[in-house]
Amino acid sequence: MVMLEVKDLVVNYGVIQAVKGVSFEINEGEIVTLIGANGAGKTTIVKTISGLLKPKSGQIIYQNENLVRQKASQIVGAGISQVAEGRHIFAGMTVMENLQLGAFLQNNHDEAKKSYEEVFDRFPILKKRRNQDAATLSGGEQQMLAIGRALMIKPKLLLLDEPSMGLSPLFIQEIFAIIKELNDRGTTILLIEQNAKQALAIADRGYVLATGKVQLTGTGSELLANSEVQRVYFGG
Ligand SMILES: Nc1ncnc2c1ncn2[C@@H]1O[C@H](COP(=O)(O)OP(=O)(O)OP(=O)(O)O)[C@@H](O)[C@H]1O
Ligand SMILES: [Mg+2]
Repeated sequence: MVMLEVKDLVVNYGVIQAVKGVSFEINEGEIVTLIGANGAGKTTIVKTISGLLKPKSGQIIYQNENLVRQKASQIVGAGISQVAEGRHIFAGMTVMENLQLGAFLQNNHDEAKKSYEEVFDRFPILKKRRNQDAATLSGGEQQMLAIGRALMIKPKLLLLDEPSMGLSPLFIQEIFAIIKELNDRGTTILLIEQNAKQALAIADRGYVLATGKVQLTGTGSELLANSEVQRVYFGG
């Protein structure tokens, strides 16, 4: 069953055309990855899905509704949560306070408490650091916090924009394992990655973007085996 359908999406920044008619879909339960060079339009697409940018034209259909007309807060309320590129944890606030911001929609105290417990179960280091200023966490811990915050609303669809960026090789493995596990437990995932090889290895399907357009699509293994993808994205 299709969970999210992006149709003919066009997004401009003033006169700059960043996304030039992109279409793709995400089925329930899938990991779908968007790969592409710097400036291909990946972050623009994620921000448009989450309502932070309004497209010039096109549709984003989720649960029979066009998200294009909705506010970012409504989109989060409908179960779509994003981990923005570059993490964006709130400095000067503790780990707990950062997680609280993720739970802003949960008026129910018991539900919010359960969400903290689940995040702490998954990321025990965050529990240890819960009263510490988030700015003092290591890069990898900050990425866990950013993911943990997105999980506080128990999203149906999780948008991850370059979760492995700036992490050590060991930590990259851990982040990919976490993504796989979240998916195994039922969260549908849109994964944006520069790290194309590892993204395709865990993805059900992928789309290759080049300068604002979909160039190629296929299953993760088809794209991994594609000679053009190998040449451009795996360095030969
Ligand atoms: N606020 C903005 N104002 C003007 N142009 C922008 C703005 N944000 C992005 N762009 C341009 O839109 C294009 C797409 O950018 P986007 O950030 O979506 O790319 P990306 O695929 O996420 O790249 P990266 O892999 O480097 O994160 C780029 O040419 C970029 O310069
Ligand atoms: Mg980007």
